[in-house]
Amino acid sequence: MWSSSTTSSRIAAIGVTTVHGFTSPTGSLSSRLSRFRPGDANSIMRAFTTNDNSTSTSTVDVDSSASAAEEIKNTKRIEKRKQKDKRQASAAKRSKFIGLAKAVDRGSFPTYQPGGSSGDVFVARSGLPQGDISSTEGGRLFTVLGIESSCDDTGAAVVRSDGVILGESLASQSHIHEEWGGIVPGLAKTAHEENIDRVVNDALEKAQMTLEEIDAIGVTVGPGLEICLRVGCEKAIQLATEYDKPFVGIHHLEAHILMARIENPELLQFPFLALLTSGGHCQLLKCLGIGRYEIIGGTLDDSLGECYDKTARLLGLPVGGGGGPALEALAKEGNATSISLTIPLHRRHDCDFSYAGLKTNIRRAAERLAIDRNVTSVLDLSRQDKADLAASFQNTAVKHLEQRLERAMKMMEKQDISSLALVGGVAANQELRSRLNAVCERRNWNMVVPPPRLCTDQGAMASWAAIERLKIGSSDDPSNQTVYARYPFSSYPNIS
Ligand code: KG4
Ligand code: ZN
Repeated sequence: MWSSSTTSSRIAAIGVTTVHGFTSPTGSLSSRLSRFRPGDANSIMRAFTTNDNSTSTSTVDVDSSASAAEEIKNTKRIEKRKQKDKRQASAAKRSKFIGLAKAVDRGSFPTYQPGGSSGDVFVARSGLPQGDISSTEGGRLFTVLGIESSCDDTGAAVVRSDGVILGESLASQSHIHEEWGGIVPGLAKTAHEENIDRVVNDALEKAQMTLEEIDAIGVTVGPGLEICLRVGCEKAIQLATEYDKPFVGIHHLEAHILMARIENPELLQFPFLALLTSGGHCQLLKCLGIGRYEIIGGTLDDSLGECYDKTARLLGLPVGGGGGPALEALAKEGNATSISLTIPLHRRHDCDFSYAGLKTNIRRAAERLAIDRNVTSVLDLSRQDKADLAASFQNTAVKHLEQRLERAMKMMEKQDISSLALVGGVAANQELRSRLNAVCERRNWNMVVPPPRLCTDQGAMASWAAIERLKIGSSDDPSNQTVYARYPFSSYPNIS
């Protein structure tokens, strides 16, 4: 700090000092200065003399003070601009590297590329089912055994190429995860190992088929929990090798998306828009063809499924099979507008999502309610209070989806796309389905959503995705198939 110099240089020094004052939102000096008009030199000097002993002086140069005030204003403006630029740069960085990292090709992970580097040259690396399989009309129907073990449930199914599920089996791990309050990868892997043979045999038995009669084998190879993926993948490789069957390594997100076509691919032809909301992902994708997806929005932090699960846990609901279904059921008893929550990112003009803020928002609202009701914790709230919290949470979560979806729809309409696939585990939610259906009706869009039990993870998704791949002449080599915890879609700059 200065002590002896000319008055004007003193004022300049004061200007510098106050820059720091302004950047500190808590400083009483800065708050007082921010109310002053340029040229109000005496006021400025009062502000300094009451806050900093070293600045107390009886001599004031009024002109210099006015220019100091101007300088303060300029510096404040520059600081503000710098802060804004910094915020924008870090937001851009976040959306690039946090939200979309799992699903977008940024060169750091092996990519899903069934159509080769151009996106449309498909190779049958382990052959195809025999005969003409390209179309269901005139062509031969064929069957695929699919295996799914990317997360917490072990699934297997035999599906025919016209979309009929001949037999399926699912071993749920919900009791294990209920006990631990979430998924523990090591326990999930052990449970997959214990269940895989039984689940595969069960699906075959229900389909009344033997492995010899099956035409091909598909298995989820990523993204997901690596040690869990490996259990299913090793089983599928072993069976494809032993029975000499065409083999397809499935991308879990593509399998979710393609489930919207299982009933009738004619009703959902490429290109279309997909909204994928699951436990691990929340994305809007432009779907151009098998293996060709362009991500137009992703979550900057949490997925919607995760947010449902954490909120269910906060309210003491069962979370074993994911907290979503229990939260949805409770929300039906509540008032959706009783608790005020902020819709995430509603001022941001893009198609990204963010659910971390809502998660915190609902927790704080619940804690405040517990204080108001004079109970010791959120878990002690009445059922009605919990239902109101659940309904308000769901209402806000869906509003966020509606806003982002409408923005993406507007973009797609300019490209003559007007079909939506609503997919992923959270798409099993009835409130979500009916509200997004209303958005589609209003905009004259065609919405296709799989039946609820086919929205969440199960074996038929691997079978059907394999059928779609085989129909276009694509299969993989089981001898060098590996699994991928992260498995981005390839980006093809020239295909849109
Ligand atoms: O697709 P999925 O089975 O697994 C992943 O690929 O992540 O999605 C599971 C997620 C869980 O977070 C679960 O709570 C949520 O989907 N979910 C639901 C409902 N059913 C499942 N969320 C809200 N309402 C539901 N009815
Ligand atoms: Zn899934």
